[in-house]
Amino acid sequence: MIIVLDFGSQLAHLIAKKIRMLGEYSEIHPSTTTVTEIIDLNPKGVILSGGPSSVYAENAPRIDPEILNLGIPILGVCYGFQLIAYLKGGTVEKGEKSEYGVTSMKITQEHPLLAGLEEEEQVLMSHGDRVTNLPEGGVFIAETEGAKAAFADDKDKLYGIQFHAEVEHTPKGMIIFENFLKISGAKREWTSRSFISEKVEELKKIDKPILMAVSGGIDSTVAAALIENAADEYLHCVFVDNGLLRKEEAQRVVNSYNKMFKHFHFVDAKELFYNRLKGVTDPEEKRKIIGRTFIEVFEEKAKELEKEFGTFEFLGQGTIYPDRVESAATSINASVIKSHHNVGGLPEHMNLTLIEPLDELYKFEVRLIGNELGIDEKMIKRHPFPGPGLAVRCLGEVTPERVAVLQEADSILTSFLEEDPRVTYSDLWQAFFVLLPVKTVGVMGDERTYENAGVIRIVESTDAMTANVADIPFDLLITITNEIINKVKGINRVCYDLTGKPPGTIEWE
Ligand code: XMP
Repeated sequence: MIIVLDFGSQLAHLIAKKIRMLGEYSEIHPSTTTVTEIIDLNPKGVILSGGPSSVYAENAPRIDPEILNLGIPILGVCYGFQLIAYLKGGTVEKGEKSEYGVTSMKITQEHPLLAGLEEEEQVLMSHGDRVTNLPEGGVFIAETEGAKAAFADDKDKLYGIQFHAEVEHTPKGMIIFENFLKISGAKREWTSRSFISEKVEELKKIDKPILMAVSGGIDSTVAAALIENAADEYLHCVFVDNGLLRKEEAQRVVNSYNKMFKHFHFVDAKELFYNRLKGVTDPEEKRKIIGRTFIEVFEEKAKELEKEFGTFEFLGQGTIYPDRVESAATSINASVIKSHHNVGGLPEHMNLTLIEPLDELYKFEVRLIGNELGIDEKMIKRHPFPGPGLAVRCLGEVTPERVAVLQEADSILTSFLEEDPRVTYSDLWQAFFVLLPVKTVGVMGDERTYENAGVIRIVESTDAMTANVADIPFDLLITITNEIINKVKGINRVCYDLTGKPPGTIEWE
């Protein structure tokens, strides 16, 4: 494995993801990890991530300097590069000449770290400080106009790059990480198949009933499928129809789950959810009600099942690696924008032991495993869907009638996007319809209409932290608009949302 020491959460994730894409397992650890902890983890190499600090800042994150003497290959990226130089007695100059953006890098000395690159390559620089002198033993191997861009010290196995090889603006970044893996002697045996067989072996130890909420989304479905492969006798999957799913989705999901799981339990709780949501218009209130009601329904079903199958000892969940790392890393300063409710939230007093088979995986790996396990393509390619579902896309009061109108419009939008050859549906992050609680005047035939307005929201993103509006062919948007207005009774005006995130959020509520 390769350890990534984290100096700035998102960047560390990108690096670990790239290493895994290259077939080597990689984990993120905090910069405070001690040298003994590193030895215990027995990595083939360590990467120090970039980060927003200057090595001279008062609270700048450092590492235990002994890590640099371990003899394990270490690659510093941006801040990590500066930190190696600083801790080993090189010179880091304070940033009068900062460099931000895409620039050209020149290789000044051939080295295995840069093998396979042209003499000049495009890289993304984003730094204030820069390394001007190396510690003894190191040589600079590349430069840009503004800074030394890479170094190597083969004796101590220390390497550094000033640019960000983990981002797409450095097109040959992957080659550099691949070279680092070669230098480290990593075997690159991390594949979805090896993961499945190891995980299934581990899960086979389960010999008591497991309860698991499945949502129709990729994470909970793949997690449940893995457990099913190991312990189908014990796994009980519960799917709740809260009446807030997309058109015909509940039925589709039930059909798939019936085929997948030995013990699949369906709860139709539409009415209960609609009753609880009556008269509620505040988004946070909606989320809380839906979260509470979900747990209530889930617990009730669990009690009923326990009578037949015995006491549940375990709770399965589809937590993935970024969920785990981010909740640990960002919980201190994060302000609550939306209180996310996810299906399968743990009812604490139930006292169950958590089983989270995907908690070390990235989304792309979950997809690969889903494919390997033969899960329905449609589920694997499904866009992220919020726990409170259409309730946060049905602005104003959530009633069965309004949800039905929204479902119709949303389904027209989805089918046009899926069918148009100019659009790759799975490349879009999310595409959905929002029903507004606003009526507008229109004219159809010779008749005046006075109906609801709605919004098409289509965004591109890689992690939902930021998002851009998708560039959908204008004529397609017009076709979809006309189709919705003609076919869906209750909508007479459609808008396209051009807002990015920030300043908007992806959902309207
Ligand atoms: P926002 O709207 O905050 O959404 O930009 C970011 C991502 O999270 C999804 N989302 C939710 N997911 N429960 C969830 O499980 C929620 O309450 C919730 N609200 C938003 C949203 O669809 C997007 O992918």
